[in-house]
Amino acid sequence: MRVVAAIEHIGAGLLILDSQLNISYCNQFILNRLPVKHPQLLGRPLAQVFPEVENPNWHAMLKHVRETGEPIQTVWRDTPYLIHLNSAANLDDGEQTRPMQQATILYSFMDELETPLLGLAIFDNSSAVLAHDMLLDALKSLKQKHDVMDTLHQQLKLANSQLLQSEKMAAIGQLAAGVAHEINNPIGFVASNLKTLADYVRQLLSLVDEMSEWGGLELEVLKEKYDYAFIRDDISGLLHDSNDGVERVKKIISSLRNFSHVGDEAFAETDLHEGIESTLNMVNNEIKYKAEIIKEFATIPPLECIGPQINQVIMNLLVNAAQSIEGFGSITLRTHSSEGEVCIEIEDTGSGMTPEITKRIFDPFFTTKAVGKGTGLGLSLSFNIIEKHHGRITVSSTPGIGSCFKIHLPIRQPLVPAIAAGGEA
Ligand SMILES: Nc1ncnc2c1ncn2[C@@H]1O[C@H](COP(=O)(O)OP(=O)(O)OP(=O)(O)O)[C@@H](O)[C@H]1O
Ligand SMILES: [Mg+2]
Repeated sequence: MRVVAAIEHIGAGLLILDSQLNISYCNQFILNRLPVKHPQLLGRPLAQVFPEVENPNWHAMLKHVRETGEPIQTVWRDTPYLIHLNSAANLDDGEQTRPMQQATILYSFMDELETPLLGLAIFDNSSAVLAHDMLLDALKSLKQKHDVMDTLHQQLKLANSQLLQSEKMAAIGQLAAGVAHEINNPIGFVASNLKTLADYVRQLLSLVDEMSEWGGLELEVLKEKYDYAFIRDDISGLLHDSNDGVERVKKIISSLRNFSHVGDEAFAETDLHEGIESTLNMVNNEIKYKAEIIKEFATIPPLECIGPQINQVIMNLLVNAAQSIEGFGSITLRTHSSEGEVCIEIEDTGSGMTPEITKRIFDPFFTTKAVGKGTGLGLSLSFNIIEKHHGRITVSSTPGIGSCFKIHLPIRQPLVPAIAAGGEA
């Protein structure tokens, strides 16, 4: 009897069912929480008093207990309860409250007469569900914070690599300026002396040739002795090659100087298409035998930029594109503008690049071209110029298919033009 009194007053519901699922016992916890008062519960089928019990989960629980003899515990989550009970006790008649969020245990046992019975214990687990929901919310917001951190981390990595890139640029710029300055003077007089030398040599050769016309054995003997015929043939080739070499050095120096002085000129409103056309005229010679030029120009507003520098970038990209084409291909130039930006695309049907090469192309002095053919400064210089214009340059490339360089430039510079150009010169 004491046992029954104890379970009458525990803080959980207890129903005892016979093998036909009729209610043979029900404790106060349940009686106090019935939404509709039933004058007589005992002896009545469970499904008659609680029709909501007829659901697949309940039948699965019964099957489990009957087949295994083992108890089964269920947390009612999606449908929050097995049988409808009020979450508060002893409400007045007709007064309603939200249904009790439940966890249940179903187990089988025998009474003292060996009658098989089922015990159904019902617990209010709303606080556990609440804690679970709070935990889920906390996890969700933790995940959101984690995502934000992840994005920040990515941005930091990008900023860091951009910083490294500009530091590298600045260091190389200083080096370049020094080297260019040191080489510029000697190469200047070598170039001018070479021209004079070529004139002198031409005059000396004419002198010997004219003397030969006079005849005279001694001169012929001397010419034989000093291998005059060979020297005469070889000398113009030597002079021509030396001149080429000097021109190449001058080109390198001018690239180096441009590289270290990319703020020399002033920002001004510029017709980009005009600039592209004049650049195309300049490099026409390099391109005409390599590629057909396709122009897809949209109507774009005047662009605030340092015109000659943007032309130089376009020239570098055009020459690279032409050089990447084996045989004959095409170079497509596209322009369009949106959201305060102008975009210039230069797409070629050239050799394309592997991802390893693509990663390095903006590094100063990186080149895959033969020694003496490329300085590897074209793209790093271009990168620097675009950066000074507060724009960005990107590339996508597929080996064997071609490459596409994209330049985005703000239509209006964020700084006052005079300060932007003058301050950084
Ligand atoms: N359109 C392109 N297609 C394929 N490879 C390219 C293209 N543009 C650049 N590259 C690669 O990037 C490298 C670097 O280019 P960059 O213009 O900086 O130097 P370069 O062309 O080698 O020499 P320079 O421009 O100084 O004469 C090139 O050597 C080439 O390997
Ligand atoms: Mg180049």
